[in-house]
Amino acid sequence: MINPPLLPDCTADSICEAAVALAAGHLVAFPTETVYGLGADARNPSAVKRIYEVKGRPSDHPLIVHISSINQLEKWATEIPEYANSLARSFWPGPMTLILKRTEIVGDFITGGQDTVGLRVPSDPIALALIHEFEHISGSAIAAPSANRFGQVSPTSSSDVYDELGEHLSDTDLVLNGGRSTIGIESTIIDCTGLSPIILRNGEISKDEIQTKLGIHVSDKSTESNARYSGSFEKHYAPKCRVVLEKHEAIGEAFFALAEIKTPFGMVRLGSPMSATEFARTLYATLRLADNNGFSILVISAPEGEGISIAIRERLSKAARGR
Ligand code: TXA
Ligand code: MG
Repeated sequence: MINPPLLPDCTADSICEAAVALAAGHLVAFPTETVYGLGADARNPSAVKRIYEVKGRPSDHPLIVHISSINQLEKWATEIPEYANSLARSFWPGPMTLILKRTEIVGDFITGGQDTVGLRVPSDPIALALIHEFEHISGSAIAAPSANRFGQVSPTSSSDVYDELGEHLSDTDLVLNGGRSTIGIESTIIDCTGLSPIILRNGEISKDEIQTKLGIHVSDKSTESNARYSGSFEKHYAPKCRVVLEKHEAIGEAFFALAEIKTPFGMVRLGSPMSATEFARTLYATLRLADNNGFSILVISAPEGEGISIAIRERLSKAARGR
C-alpha cells in the first residue's frame, strides 16, 4: 500500500483539504495537545469501520467524538448533569473526555453498542480548526482514537503516526503534521453518567484539580462503573522492549528518569526531564527511542507525587506488563 500524504504545514488550505477528505469518508490523522488522533466522520459507519481495521482494534471498544465547543454538547449527549456542564465550562477546550448518555445521532458503531458516548473538545489549534471546518461543511464531528495500533504506544508526532499506521492507511487518507504534542499523554476520562463524576483514566487534569476548582467530590476509577475503555486493559501503552519500573539497582540496558536521578552504572540514558510535565511530554517518544535503538530492557523511574505523575504511573504500570 502507498503511504498516505503528509500535509506538512497546517495552513488554512491544508485544514480545508483534510475536512473535505473526512467528508468524503477518508481517514485523517491529526495532532491534539494529548496525542495524535486517527479521525473519521462520526456519522459515517464505513469510515469509522476503517478506524478499527487500521488500528486492529476490537469493534466493541468505543471511540471518543471530538466536538468544536460546549455548544455542540447537547447534539451528541443527553441527560447531562450540572456537574458535567461545570466540568466542560472549566476544562474545555482541553485534555478531558466526558462520558455521557448519547443522543440518537450517535451510532452503535461509535460506542460499541453502549448507551453512552465519550466527548472531547481538544485545545490544540490545528485540531480545533479541523473540527470547526469539518462541522461547518458536514454538520458532523470527528470520531478519533489515538493513532496507534491497538495496545501499543500512542503517537505524539506525525512521524510516530507513520511508524505506527503508515502501512495500514491508504493514499487517500491524510496525516496532518502539527509538531510534537504538548502534553504527551491521553486525556483524563470522566464518567458523568452517575450522581457524581468518576475518573476512568487519569490525565493531565487531575482529581485534585477538579475538586479544588469545582468544589465537588470526584471518585477514582471505580469497579461500579461498567463503562468499557481500552486503556483499562492490563497490557497497554507497551513498547517492544521490556519496561522495568525501578529506582535503584535495576538491571537493564537503557534508563529514563527525572534529571535529579543518577544513571545506574552501565546503562544508556535516554532522557532527563526536569519536571513531571516534561516527563509526560517525552515519555512515549522515549519508549519509541528505546525500540528504535534495539534495547531490550528499559528501566524507568516514574515521578512520585500527585497531578500528572499519577497519570504517568498509570501508563507505566501497564507498559511494564508488556505486550
Ligand atoms: O487524549 C485522548 O483522549 C486521545 C485524543 C486523540 O483525543 N484519544 C484517545 O482515544 O486516547 P482512545 O480511543 O485511544 O482512548 C479513549 C478511551 C478508550 O479506551 C475508549 O474505550 C474510551 O476512551 N471510551 C470512549 N468512549 C467511551 C464510552 N462511551 N464509555 C467508556 N469509555 C469510552
Ligand atoms: Mg489509545
